[in-house]
Amino acid sequence: MNVATTVIKSRHSIRKFKSDPIDELIIKDAIECARHAPTAMNIQPWLFGVIKEKPLLQKIAQLTDHAKFIADAPLCFAVFGEKKATYYLEDCCAATENLIIALQAHGIGSCWVAGDKKAHAEPVRKLLNVPDTHTLVSLVPAGMPSEVSIIEKKDLKYVVFEESFKKG
Ligand SMILES: Cc1cc2nc3c(=O)[nH]c(=O)nc-3n(C[C@H](O)[C@H](O)[C@H](O)COP(=O)(O)O)c2cc1C
Repeated sequence: MNVATTVIKSRHSIRKFKSDPIDELIIKDAIECARHAPTAMNIQPWLFGVIKEKPLLQKIAQLTDHAKFIADAPLCFAVFGEKKATYYLEDCCAATENLIIALQAHGIGSCWVAGDKKAHAEPVRKLLNVPDTHTLVSLVPAGMPSEVSIIEKKDLKYVVFEESFKKG
């Protein structure tokens, strides 16, 4: 078994966290991994926010519809994409996944929370004082897991095809 693929397959969205802070070296390494994601024409059209202050976490949580648990996370990353970059969404999604997998490799649980297409994208941007050249792509609350729930994945036979697709 390969370490990287084992880490990827062991990840589950975590929505309940212990209150312990995340080590600064882990935060830095996770952001390093995020910024190593591929980007169209190597534009790297992103900004990574690291939010730890409780009142800010609570305000962000309040703004979301399906992520009130952000209020109880010790930390939340916020990934913003530069709107003028044609592929900012793909680029920032690649960075978000790298971030989440890097956290998992360090034993830190997290959950991808939608930003792009969500009504909270603009209020979160304003709350964090991010220039309007950028838009929120994702929020990633993170911390030591206090509860893990495992979601079943579709069987490979339903999602893979070889050569040309055949029904049934
Ligand atoms: C683009 C995207 C947006 C998501 N938004 C939310 C969200 O707003 N709230 C939430 O609790 N989970 C959110 N999730 C997490 C998914 O619910 C989760 O990945 C899915 O149920 C599969 O579970 P797993 O991550 O444990 O494999 C989001 C995931 C993605 C990729």
